[in-house]
Amino acid sequence: MTSWKDQITELLNNTVKEVEKVSASKSLEELEVNVLGRKGRLAELMKELKDVAAEERPKLGVLANDVKTKIEEIFVHARTSFASAEIKQRLNHETVDVTEPGVRPPEGHLHLTTQAIRDITRVFERAGFSTVRYPEIDWDWYAFESLNMPKDHPARDDWETFFVDVPSSDKPEEGKMVLVPHVSNWQARVMKRAVAQGEFPVRLINIAKCYRRQSDATHVPMFHQFEGMVIDKEVSITHLTGTMDYFVRSFFGPDRRARLRPHHFRFTEPSFEVDISCSLCAGTGKDSNGTKCRLCKRGWVELGGAGMIHPNVLRAGGIDPNEYSGFAFGWGVERTFSMKEGLQIDDLRIMYKNDVRFLQQF
Ligand code: PHE
Repeated sequence: MTSWKDQITELLNNTVKEVEKVSASKSLEELEVNVLGRKGRLAELMKELKDVAAEERPKLGVLANDVKTKIEEIFVHARTSFASAEIKQRLNHETVDVTEPGVRPPEGHLHLTTQAIRDITRVFERAGFSTVRYPEIDWDWYAFESLNMPKDHPARDDWETFFVDVPSSDKPEEGKMVLVPHVSNWQARVMKRAVAQGEFPVRLINIAKCYRRQSDATHVPMFHQFEGMVIDKEVSITHLTGTMDYFVRSFFGPDRRARLRPHHFRFTEPSFEVDISCSLCAGTGKDSNGTKCRLCKRGWVELGGAGMIHPNVLRAGGIDPNEYSGFAFGWGVERTFSMKEGLQIDDLRIMYKNDVRFLQQF
C-alpha cells in the first residue's frame, strides 16, 4: 500500500498535470473544488492522517501544509493566466472601428410656430425693426377703445373676445379685462412711450399670443399675431407697400408678390387687406390647363390687415397727427406660416394637436 507521504506528493503532482490539461476557466473551477474543496481530495487525505504513526504526524503535518499552499498557488496562477488569455482572445477577435458612424440619439426640435416666429423676427430685424412684447391679457381700453372702436361699435363683433372675470381697473375708463383678440393693444402704449422718451422713428414688431372664440379649419382659439408699426414724420403708403413687398419676398421667396386690397378697420385709414400671390398658380388664378387654380381660385391668398394709422389712434397715444404719420400691419403667425410654398396645411388646428408624426416633418 502506498504510504500517506507518497499519496500527498502524488496529489500535488497530479494536480499540476491536471491543471495543465484544463482548457476553460469553468473546468478549472471544478478541478479546484475537487482538490481543495471541503470534501475534496486533500480533505479526504487529511482525515487519514490520524491512522499514521504518532511520531511521524508532526513532520507530515508540515508537509501537508506545504502541499496545500503550493496547490493554492498553482490555482491562483492558473486563474490569472486564464483571465489574461481570455482578454487577449477577445482583443484579437472583437475590434472597435472608431471610424464607424455613431448611432444618433433621437433629437427634438422647436415647434413650427416658434420656428415661424424666429424666421419672421429675423426678416424684420434685417429691415431695422426691433422686436418687443406687450401684454396678452389687457384692459378693454388698450384692446379696443384706444383703437378708435367705441364700446358699442358693431365692428367689435369681428373680434370674438374672451372677457376675464376680474375686478375692473382702478381707472374705470380702462373697462374690463380681456384676453387680447389681436395684438394691436400695444399701439397706445408704444406711442405714449415714444412721446415720453422722444424715441422716433418708431420701427417695432410685437409678436404675441391672442385669443378668439373661434375654432375651425382656418382658426384656432389661441394663436399668434405679429404686428408691425412705423411712425415718423412723413411716413406714407409707399413705405407700407415697400415693407409688405420686402417681407413677402424674404419670407416666402423671391417669386411671391404682395398686393394691397381696400378694406375697413377702425384703427387705420386707409385700410387694406394684404394678399400674396398663390404659390401654386403664381398669381394667375389658372393652372397649366387654363382651369381655375384649385388652391386659390383667383391667383391671390389673403394674409392679414394693414393700413395707415388713424389720426384718432395717434391722438389716443398722445401723438399729434399733424406732425407724425405711420403705418401698421397685423397678421397671424400660423396662417402666414401655413402659406409657405409646398406646405398646403388645410387645417390649422393640426399645429396644436401635438401629433409628432405631423410635427416631425418640420
Ligand atoms: N388687428 C387687426 C386684426 O387682428 C389686424 C391689423 C393690424 C389691421 C394693424 C391693420 C393694422 O385683424
